[in-house]
Amino acid sequence: MPQIHYLPDDRTIEIDDDDIILEASLRAGIPHTHICGGSARCSTCRVLIVEGLEFCSPRTSPEEDLAKKLRLEPEIRLACQTQVAGGKVILRRLAIDSEDLESFNDQMAGKSISPPVGQEKKIAILFADIRGFTAFAESLLPYDVIYILNRYFQKMGYAINRNGGMINNYMGDGFMALFGLENSDKAAEQAVRAGVEMLEELEKLNPYFETLYRHRLRIGIGIHCGWVVVGNLGASKSQTVTAIGDAVNFASRIEAANKQVGTSLLISEETYQEVKELAIVNQCVSVQIPGKSGEYPLYEVVGMPPLPVEIEAVSEVREGSIWQNFVNKLLALYAVVYNWIREI
Ligand code: FES
Repeated sequence: MPQIHYLPDDRTIEIDDDDIILEASLRAGIPHTHICGGSARCSTCRVLIVEGLEFCSPRTSPEEDLAKKLRLEPEIRLACQTQVAGGKVILRRLAIDSEDLESFNDQMAGKSISPPVGQEKKIAILFADIRGFTAFAESLLPYDVIYILNRYFQKMGYAINRNGGMINNYMGDGFMALFGLENSDKAAEQAVRAGVEMLEELEKLNPYFETLYRHRLRIGIGIHCGWVVVGNLGASKSQTVTAIGDAVNFASRIEAANKQVGTSLLISEETYQEVKELAIVNQCVSVQIPGKSGEYPLYEVVGMPPLPVEIEAVSEVREGSIWQNFVNKLLALYAVVYNWIREI
C-alpha cells in the first residue's frame, strides 16, 4: 500500500493507489493549506518531495502552467494536483506557520477540500485620484483636509452607488471601486457611467471649494474590465471585500496615464468594446503602461447618454411636480398674507 510521510509533522499515513496528496492529508487531519480550493490557482498547497518523486504522477497541465510561471523546481509539487501510486513518498509541507494553521482551522469545516477563499470573476475596476492634492493639503489645516475629502468622497460615493458599484478601498485621496460583483453583465457600462457622473458631481462641487479655499479639484479616473480574484482581505475581524489581479493593477495604471495624456477619464480597450455603442469618446491615445511592454490604446470618455427613464417613473415625477407646485404656491400665498398682516 502506498504511503506518505509528512515533514515536519513526522507522520506516516497509508493511502490508496492514485490518491491525491491534498485529499489524503485532509482525510488524515493534517492541516494542509489550500487557499484556491484545490484548482491549481494558488501555490499554498505546495510540497517539497524529499523522496519518492518517481511515485508521483506527472504534472497536470494547470500545474505545469503554474510551475512555469513561478519557476518551480521539479521536486516542488502542488498537493492538490499530485497523485501517489506504488510506493512511499516523503514530503515536506511548505506553508506551515502558526497563521497558516489558524486560517486552516477557520477554513476547514469538515475533512474534505474546502471552497476557495476567493472567487474568480470578470468585473469592472475604477480608480480615481485627486490631482496635486498633497501640495494643496499642505496649505490647509488638517481638519479642513478631512472636511474636503469627506465632501468629495461622499459625492463620488453617490455616483458609484447609484450605478451599482461599491468603493472598497481608500488610499489617501484616491480610491478603488468595483462594479459587477453580483452580476457582471453591465459592469463596464455602470463603471463608465459612474465615471462620467463623478466628473459632473465634481463640477457642481468645485464652486463651493473655490469660494471656501480658492481651489478647484481636478481628478483622474481609470477604468478597466478583466478577470480578478474577489475575496475578503484583512485581519479576521476587519475584513473587506477586495479584488486582486493584473486587471486591478492595469486599471490603476490607466488612472495614472491621465496625467501623461492631460485627460480626466480614460478607459481600456476591453472596457471600450463593451460600451462603444454608448460612450461619447473624444480621442483614442496609445500609451506606454509602466511594467508592460508595448503601447496600449486608451479612450477618453467625455459623456454617456442618460439612462432611459421608465414611463411609471415619469408619471410619478409629473404627479410629484404638480403637487409640489401646488404646495409652493400655497406657501408663497401664505408668505404674502403674513407680510401684509405684519405691515398693518
Ligand atoms: S490549493 Fe491552490 S494550488 Fe493547490
